[in-house]
Amino acid sequence: MTFEVNKAVIPAAGLGTRFLPATKAMPKEMLPVVDRPAIQYVVEEAVEAGLTDILMVTGRNKTPLENHFDRVLELESALEERGDQHKLEAVRHASNLADVHYLRQGSPLGLGHAVYRAHQHVGDESFAVLLGDDIIAEGGQLLREMVRVHRETGASVVAVQEVPQEQVSSYGVVAPQLVDGEFKSAGDYEWPTYWVNSLVEKPAVEDAPSNFAVIGRYVLRPEAFEILENTPPGRGGEIQLTDALVEMAANREETGGVVALVYGGRRFDTGNKFEYLKANVELAIANAEHGPEVREWIQQYAQQLAQQTKNGN
Ligand code: UTP
Repeated sequence: MTFEVNKAVIPAAGLGTRFLPATKAMPKEMLPVVDRPAIQYVVEEAVEAGLTDILMVTGRNKTPLENHFDRVLELESALEERGDQHKLEAVRHASNLADVHYLRQGSPLGLGHAVYRAHQHVGDESFAVLLGDDIIAEGGQLLREMVRVHRETGASVVAVQEVPQEQVSSYGVVAPQLVDGEFKSAGDYEWPTYWVNSLVEKPAVEDAPSNFAVIGRYVLRPEAFEILENTPPGRGGEIQLTDALVEMAANREETGGVVALVYGGRRFDTGNKFEYLKANVELAIANAEHGPEVREWIQQYAQQLAQQTKNGN
């Protein structure tokens, strides 16, 4: 059995209720972050990790997503006539990035269901899952490393991040395997990797087995599909990907088990309003074109705010 990964699945069919009314007529993945929709960062990340066969699982309002990765000849000729090479390249870049396929989820029955729907496209191979509303600053590097862990261990791999204990109930949380009171390492990689005994979806703070929260990047073995097919709705009445991972972690012999890779860099959940704003500010500062002026403006504005606070306003 080889554990090569060629395909990426991007679930983008959630209802986006946390970001209403902005997401009433538009998927949250299409909200712009600095100069492009959030989903473009995610597709760029998959491509950077060498995955150019992409399946996007879409829901209502799917048209803007499809249009964004398609060519718009009318727009291209207008920009060509104006001699605006810079914008022309930006427009073409989005459509030339990858081979993007689309599949309707049907009903939004949960992330596990969205992933299950990818079975026919992916077939009997390992594959990556990238949540369409999660932007990861060094995402390409992270995904490449996850693919390497998968290839070398044969395990499914989840990216996790350490979060403050009081925030664990917003996430899926892993229970790493302990040996003599230490987390059991899965090998020597760019970030720490631990074997996972189990996972819990959105646990109460006092029940959380660790503060390693699952973020939206996974490399899964195809056994995940068979498990998801038989996974009943769980927390919130949704078919949970976490429940399938619990089964894979418990059944290491047959499914290869689960490894968590602890990513230490920046990550933004753009489906959350505050995180979305932070993504815009931080990525604007990191942007070669706009960075210097944004940084200067923020510094001035922060001074103004500090002065107002001092004056009691
Ligand atoms: P979220 O937990 O963010 O749910 O989904 P949501 O419905 O999109 O957003 P809120 O909570 O109502 O604001 C995590 C990821 O799973 C996808 C979402 O698009 C997002 O990338 N998802 C979720 C699906 O594709 N289908 C589903 O049925 C549920």
